[in-house]
Amino acid sequence: MRDARTPFVAGNWKMYKTVAETVKYVKEFRALVKDIDGVEIVVAPPFTALHAAAEAARNSNVGIAAQDLYWDREGPFTGEVSGAMIREAGAEYVIIGHSERRTLFGDTDATVNRRVAAAFAAGLCPIACVGETLDQRERQETFDVLDRQIRQGLDGLTSDQLAQLVVAYEPVWAIGTGRNATPEQAEEAHGHIRKRLRQWFGPDAAALCHVIYGGSVKPDNSASLLSQPNVDGALVGGASLDVRSFLEIVTKGRDAARRR
Ligand code: PGA
Repeated sequence: MRDARTPFVAGNWKMYKTVAETVKYVKEFRALVKDIDGVEIVVAPPFTALHAAAEAARNSNVGIAAQDLYWDREGPFTGEVSGAMIREAGAEYVIIGHSERRTLFGDTDATVNRRVAAAFAAGLCPIACVGETLDQRERQETFDVLDRQIRQGLDGLTSDQLAQLVVAYEPVWAIGTGRNATPEQAEEAHGHIRKRLRQWFGPDAAALCHVIYGGSVKPDNSASLLSQPNVDGALVGGASLDVRSFLEIVTKGRDAARRR
């Protein structure tokens, strides 16, 4: 149970890294971060490397996340992986509703909602992704889109569950484009999300729920993003694939969050 919003930095590896590459990375990375406190650090390898990653990270301060899950525990669902399987493989977190899952693989707010519930049922901490497209931003629909994604995606959660959840605000136009949201744009969206969480789940839960930013986070912008009062961490794609660059994001982000 978290009792405060310790900065949270996760690396989303997407469909990169074999088992061998994962083990090499985690061994090197855990040694580099072993004395770094005041930040929750997570990496999300592909399913095939989850177990090996968890073994390599055992007794370290590096947590392991899956990149998705299916909501049933087991059954005739060819190609799917359940929360219980992910938990048994040694992961403690799971990314849900990433924009690539939504646009390429048919995830919707309704399926996100089922996955979030299944993650809690399996004892996994969900990292639930939301965010608007460029078109939606230009049409001034950002807050409406976020409201819908949060209301439907998190429908039915208890306040205690919300307090444990990580929301990742990832504007679709910033993912993999090298064009990050400015710290002001991120803070505006995060502040809005926090306001809604307060209305819908109460002030105590909303104060504990992490709202992290994702979309072209790099070593040279993690400090300015994490210095914002409602930016509680980062979900890092491309720049998390390299040990040194992810390390720099973690340390600079943590230091900036401390000063805020
Ligand atoms: P990016 O990806 O850091 O490569 O933009 C972020 C994400 O997709 O989570």
